[in-house]
Order: sequence, then C-alpha cells, then structure tokens
Amino acid sequence: MKQNFINRFLSKILAKQLRKPGGILAGKVGNKMNKINSFLYDFTIDAMQLKDNESILEIGFGNGKFFDRIFSTANNLTIYGLDFSSEMVKEASANNPSTTNSGKLTLQFGSSDKIPFDDNSFDKVFCINVIYFWEQPADHLKEIYRVLKPGGTFYTAMRTKESLVQMPFAKYGFNMYTPEEWINMLETNLLHFVSSKKTENEPDAVFGKQLYKAESMCIVAKKTDDK
Ligand SMILES: C[S@@+](CC[C@H](N)C(=O)[O-])C[C@H]1O[C@@H](n2cnc3c(N)ncnc32)[C@H](O)[C@@H]1O
Repeated sequence: MKQNFINRFLSKILAKQLRKPGGILAGKVGNKMNKINSFLYDFTIDAMQLKDNESILEIGFGNGKFFDRIFSTANNLTIYGLDFSSEMVKEASANNPSTTNSGKLTLQFGSSDKIPFDDNSFDKVFCINVIYFWEQPADHLKEIYRVLKPGGTFYTAMRTKESLVQMPFAKYGFNMYTPEEWINMLETNLLHFVSSKKTENEPDAVFGKQLYKAESMCIVAKKTDDK
C-alpha cells in the first residue's frame, strides 16, 4: 500500500519532468532521456535523409546532446531548436558551444504552438517524444505547417501506444496515438502522410529497476499545395 503510494508519487514527478524538465532534477532527467532515446534519435536521423544546405528545426531537443550527430550527416546544415524548458535551452547551449557560436545552431526558448520563426523557413521539422504533451495538437501542427517551406517535411517520432502504455508515468498526462490516429491528425492539419516506420530491436527502456519493452515509430508528412 505504502509502496504503491510512493511509486505513484515518483511516476507523477517523472511525468512532469519529462513534459518540461525543470529545477534541480532537470540535469539528471536530460541525461536519462539521452540514454533511453539515443536509438530513436539515430532511427529518426536516418529517416530524415538530410541533404547538404538544408535548414532544420527540432522541437523539444532536451539537453541537445544529439545535434552533433545531425550535423555529421550532411554538409552545411543550419539547425534551429525550440524548447519550452529554460533549463534545457541553457544546458543544450552549453553542450554545443562551437556550433552555437558559429551560428550553425540556434537554440530558442518557446513553445511549438507559437513558433518564433518566419513562414516558409525550414526544409524539415522534427520532434522526438514531444507530441504526447500537446493538449491541442492542431495549434502546434498549424505552426509547423506555417514554418515549413512548400514541399517541406515533418517527422514525428514517438513511442507506440503499446509500448508507452506499460510505462507507469505515462498515465499522468501523456496523450498516446496509434499511427492511424496521428496520421488523421496530420491530414486534418494539411500535413499529408508520406510514410511510417516502426523501430525493430529497440533496446528496452529502464526506469528504476524495471525494464520496459520499447518500440517507437517515425511518421513522415509533407506540406504540399493540396488542400
Ligand atoms: C520527453 S522530453 C524529450 C527530449 C528529447 N527529444 C528526447 O527524445 O530525448 C520532451 C522535451 O520537449 C520539450 N517540450 C514539450 N512540449 C513542448 C512544446 N510545446 N514546445 C517546445 N518544447 C516542448 C520539453 O521541455 C522537453 O525538453
């Protein structure tokens, strides 16, 4: 009984931190996310097939430890990041001194339902483990549509519903989607479905002493002229 109460309490704290890392736990949470999500970053970077000179936006970059991997996949990329945790913006800036100083990487504080960038700015926009926290996904997707260049692509990477539902923190404020539900949401907001792929042999996620089977997907959608 007491143990259940403690577990629920810890799950709630973790859920809140995953939504918006903050305070004294932010650093630890950022590093933990990197360990668990490294595989999904590689999977998503591979799906993006970045080309030289592209302009990219990542929404919800955590502590920004994977930007170097993205830069290494093509020449002369310009990368922008947006995160609504001030701690994550600070940590990610400290973790990427050379690219931020050279102007190749710009990290901005703000929320994806009010993206502080001009219309038609990006070839590709992506987010990993972020959409669970959007209360009104349409507000975010409209903004992503606005900042994508015509023909630009949006990549949503997330854990599958089956995988996420086993994780005890996910019952505290996580919105989970089947591929069909998310594709429908994208299409409703004029982002046209291109493809969807699930991870294979993704390493288990470890929370506390517990192992959870991790499975994720990346759903690709395009901004086209079709209404
Ligand atoms: C679960 S963490 C994922 C971090 C990293 N992408 C990963 O997969 O390891 C969610 C991140 O998205 C950020 N975030 C959540 N909602 C956001 C929003 N509406 N706008 C910008 N950032 C957001 C949080 O601050 C946090 O850094």
